[in-house]
Amino acid sequence: MSGRVRCAVFPVAGLGTRFLPATKTVPKEMLPVVDRPLIQYAVDEAIEAGCDTLVFVTNRYKHAVADYFDKAYELEQKLERAGKSELLAMIRDVLPRQVRAVFVTQAEALGLGHAVLCARPVVGDQPFAVLLPDDLIWNRGPGATRQLVELAAREQASVVAVQDVPIEQTRSYGIVATRDFTGRHGEIRGIVEKPRPEEAPSTLAVVGRYVLQPRIFGLLESTKPGAGGEIQLTDAIAALLAEQRILAYRFEGRRFDCGSRIGLIEATLQYALDDESLAGPTRELMRQALRPAG
Ligand code: UTP
Repeated sequence: MSGRVRCAVFPVAGLGTRFLPATKTVPKEMLPVVDRPLIQYAVDEAIEAGCDTLVFVTNRYKHAVADYFDKAYELEQKLERAGKSELLAMIRDVLPRQVRAVFVTQAEALGLGHAVLCARPVVGDQPFAVLLPDDLIWNRGPGATRQLVELAAREQASVVAVQDVPIEQTRSYGIVATRDFTGRHGEIRGIVEKPRPEEAPSTLAVVGRYVLQPRIFGLLESTKPGAGGEIQLTDAIAALLAEQRILAYRFEGRRFDCGSRIGLIEATLQYALDDESLAGPTRELMRQALRPAG
């Protein structure tokens, strides 16, 4: 694989049904963990990995995502007049100057694979990263995307992030079969979307971080709807496997499934406990909440 990974694709056109009724008007990616929306964590991770073109695949209901990255003139003026320079810097820095954001529309929610295909006109013929913002990955060291990008460059291959899951959860994930696992990575032999536990080739589940070769776009063009009637990225990756080496990578860090209610609660607690000013009060609050009633 040649070339630096400059483009990061954020498919954010899903319906977010697990967070209804909130997601009637608030896109799932705008739900906050402590004080930042999920999309901001993903964007920061992509920028840390060296990406300078961020492609958001959205739909007509998700203006809030574009608005968030737009300039907030009135708010900036008010903060400036009030001398609140720290807050001003915070809202100006949601995107650094050297980074450009591009918005493309997925007219119909036809699946994650279709959403990635919508980014093709912007990405073109270069390797690119995909980040699903509802998979929030916390790490003290380098972010998950940076880890993937570095491995992809070193091994000249596409890379898919994986983690071990309990066997009964395989039906919620893409599951990979691997060979020659050394250290944190192995070569993928096969990949299947949401298998029943008795049919799963392993318990290594794909989570929402990928570095992919542009060849995937051509394969997505001809991918038919699969599990759940959606055009699945997993099926196109399975087709890519027949042509190229793809690695599964057990990233360093802790992943929170913020597409589920309990995952969002867990992430909020983790990030609060990791925040100097919130850690103490959060511990106290948890102690009180766990005290037997009465
Ligand atoms: P999910 O499987 O989490 O679906 O999508 P969802 O619609 O967002 O949420 P639920 O399950 O109804 O609560 C995984 C990722 O793929 C994107 C989503 O935005 C999310 O980032 N996606 C999914 C699209 O962009 N387009 C689609 O057609 C489907």
